[in-house]
Amino acid sequence: MDDLTPLRQLWLDRINTAADPAQIEDVRLAALGKKGEISLKMRELGKMTPEERQTTGKALNELRDELDAALRARKLALEDAALDARLAGEWLDVTLPGRPRPAGTIHPISQVMDEVTAIFADMGFAVAEGPQVESDWYNFDALNIAPEHPARQEHDTFFMHRAPGDDRPPHVLRTHTSPVQIRAMQQTGAPIRVIAPGRVYRMDMDQTHTPMFHQLEGLAIGRDISMAQLKWTLEEFCRAFFEVPSVELRFRASHFPFTEPSAEVDIRCSWENGQLKIGEGDSWMEILGSGMVHPHVLRSGGVDPDQWQGFAFGMGIDRLAMLKYGIPDLRAFFEADLRWLRHYGFAAGDVPSVSGGLSR
Ligand code: PHE
Repeated sequence: MDDLTPLRQLWLDRINTAADPAQIEDVRLAALGKKGEISLKMRELGKMTPEERQTTGKALNELRDELDAALRARKLALEDAALDARLAGEWLDVTLPGRPRPAGTIHPISQVMDEVTAIFADMGFAVAEGPQVESDWYNFDALNIAPEHPARQEHDTFFMHRAPGDDRPPHVLRTHTSPVQIRAMQQTGAPIRVIAPGRVYRMDMDQTHTPMFHQLEGLAIGRDISMAQLKWTLEEFCRAFFEVPSVELRFRASHFPFTEPSAEVDIRCSWENGQLKIGEGDSWMEILGSGMVHPHVLRSGGVDPDQWQGFAFGMGIDRLAMLKYGIPDLRAFFEADLRWLRHYGFAAGDVPSVSGGLSR
């Protein structure tokens, strides 16, 4: 009978150098599989004499059992090693302190107010403020809106309550930021260049109107400030705000009691499948009213219209936010839905600036 020692050594070597469970399986098939070397040898037993068969058969059986045991042991060892490597790679120190993401986000309105303020600050405009509960003189009369003027109805004004018997005209929730024009002129006189961002109120509610919304007033008064400068300022603003090389604006002749001449400005946009996009499509969205400040208004602010002139504009901040960030429904801004805020909100601490980027 052949000596099985070299065969045994050969297969034990192969088993011990197999590098992973798949190679072990290959070795097993090559040795003990149906057509494996050991199995074939066992098949030859039939051709042997009974004596040979006894000794060789016994030796082959022992070899087969030994290799089988070696294969199993090696396979187990390789699987253990693989598990150890994986555990080492996926090791996690659960005693480390957590890294929570900041709990809140910046509301798109706050973000846009900051962006708008940064752009106008860069053009030399200071920020002015006024109260949200305003006298009807500041909200209407001073702006050349007489008591019988239809604009008082058009504004759908919220009136404050007066005690019974008190028949002074009631205060109102300001219907626009224009009263801040008067307050700013009274405070600093001319020349002046200010913006006034803030909340305003009107009785109105649909997809693009809410009873409270936000405006940005602008006022520039000097010796010879013109309509051309108004147009340049607004175009420059829109380019910077929308962060695009050009936007298409449409100036429409209009009427406001506090400006003469007056223009309303629309921006080109598209509404498709509830998606709002700026700069393309054939819809127009009105974003602001503007014009040359009426002499009566200058006088209300204590500025001499024979010496000074300038422009004013008022734009809807909420609409700017909808357009820039593709937010289709204005009402969602004020529903305080955390999922909406997480989706549309901005990271705290990213303060917009013209040089550092507005909406990164
Ligand atoms: N106050 C106007 C409005 O709310 C906008 C406006 C402001 C128009 C300044 C002209 C000048 O619609």
